[in-house]
Amino acid sequence: MKKEIYTEIILDLYRNPVNRGKLEGADVEAQGGNPTCGDNVYFTMKIGEGKIQDIKFLGSGCAISTAAESLLTEMVKGKSIKHAKKISGEQLLGELGGIIQTRMKCALLGLNVLKKGLEAYEKSGGKKTIVKGIII
Ligand code: FES
Repeated sequence: MKKEIYTEIILDLYRNPVNRGKLEGADVEAQGGNPTCGDNVYFTMKIGEGKIQDIKFLGSGCAISTAAESLLTEMVKGKSIKHAKKISGEQLLGELGGIIQTRMKCALLGLNVLKKGLEAYEKSGGKKTIVKGIII
């Protein structure tokens, strides 16, 4: 059977994304994109006690990247930075219900930007961190 490009989960999250927006006074801002298609994402996060207390995302992207970013915010909200950094591409793809090979980069755009932002935050020793122009 031919695999559908858009799973039901993707369509639902694309139409009704959760955690869309921008947090004022964020501890971490991470923005990046895929120059090939021009899609990009911007995360803002509040960090406390080593955990992502709150997270929102903005961006312009295809249905798969938008759905993946939205789902990712739910997967990391309230979780430790350590936990968020350990989320694998396979895990995210599984949660999305499976993605065809040619669209992997779309699905992983947000995860890669998020991880780079968290790594920069840890490197700074927990200071307010802004990382922009991450190329995925
Ligand atoms: Fe650019 Fe999907 S087409 S991230």
